[in-house]
Amino acid sequence: MSIPLPENAKQDLLARGYSRRHFGRISSLLGMGAALSQFVPAAQAGTTKAPGDAPFVGHPNMVRIGSNECWTGPFPSAIAAGQAMVPHGNRYEPDHLRATLLQNVSLVDNLPLDHILPWPGSSDPLSRSVVSFCSPTRGLVTANPTYETAWRTAEWLKIKLSRVPLSAHNNYATDVRAMLAADPNAGAYYICSPNNPTGTVTPLEDIAWLADNKPAGSVLIIDEAYIHFAGTPSAAALVKQGKDVVVLRTFSKMFAMAGLRLGLTLARPDLHERMMRYDGPNITTMLNIVALACGAESLTQSVAISQRRNEMIAARTLAIKHIEKRGFRVLPHSQANMFLVDWKKPAPQMKEAFAKQNIEIGRHWDIWPTMSRITVGSMSDMQAFCQALDHIMA
Ligand SMILES: Cc1ncc(COP(=O)(O)O)c(C=O)c1O
Repeated sequence: MSIPLPENAKQDLLARGYSRRHFGRISSLLGMGAALSQFVPAAQAGTTKAPGDAPFVGHPNMVRIGSNECWTGPFPSAIAAGQAMVPHGNRYEPDHLRATLLQNVSLVDNLPLDHILPWPGSSDPLSRSVVSFCSPTRGLVTANPTYETAWRTAEWLKIKLSRVPLSAHNNYATDVRAMLAADPNAGAYYICSPNNPTGTVTPLEDIAWLADNKPAGSVLIIDEAYIHFAGTPSAAALVKQGKDVVVLRTFSKMFAMAGLRLGLTLARPDLHERMMRYDGPNITTMLNIVALACGAESLTQSVAISQRRNEMIAARTLAIKHIEKRGFRVLPHSQANMFLVDWKKPAPQMKEAFAKQNIEIGRHWDIWPTMSRITVGSMSDMQAFCQALDHIMA
């Protein structure tokens, strides 16, 4: 799906070094296109994808620990809040739901209301921030491995892309100094913390260092999709200080709303304004009322959040111990609902072997072709995974 770009957006893009040939590609990334952009066929996006790594491989009867979804639904009170909105589905905005969501974010993250934008998920603002802050003259820097949507967007737009290995000496955090060295004139530096697929956290001091040392006019895109699983400090503090930082959040993970579609960006209004040039504010105003109600309630559930985090940690610990007992290495220091396992053979082979046992495990990244990402599911999901591993190794 592609929408015509407004004239002022075209002028801005041309002024930043894009050409008219980019317009169609850019509009295909916005709105629904963004959710799909992560699945741009490999040949088009210039990334190699192994067979068996197709998205949406899940089948209803499989143990689904492949897509970093939450193993259960939204919190009970959030489900109730969402359900209560269904009878009002005839109204565009029955009860100032969007305002309530923003109010709750403002309280939890200690940010002014005009620094918060809600989205139908975080994929659109992720792609859009690459479009907005990078260009053919100012590249994108990411870690490797990391979540691919930002780098796929750069490849799709033929923007210079630098990928920097994680720092093995610093708990597999993103290596911010190496990122700056890789491209001292980049338009954006993307840091996913906790990082997908390693679950490792980049210390806030490192992110703050990059915010203070990056080139003028560039922006840090900090993807905090998994932060509630780690409980670590948020880069929202840097937004509050007025830094050139855009924080991305999603309700798809801890809040278990992947199918309901809700996300947030936290940033200075002028940075948001640069992201909103392409299609007006509609995408952030016309949101699903069930998702808005469910999301607003979820944010207030601090006890349920830490219970769910502890549940995840118990299931992760059980699975990792079992894998290590079987002689495989798990990449250490994950603080999120995923980890990488090194099978010492091509990861797609193990993915296929698990699929035969009705277990859908995650994909691999080209930099580490023998490692699979395992999502932490429920305790019983992880017990089934361990049994399947025993079966495969028998
Ligand atoms: C790091 C990261 N960012 C963003 C997203 C996109 O999430 P959504 O579009 O569901 O908000 C994902 C989804 O897996 C992710 O892992």
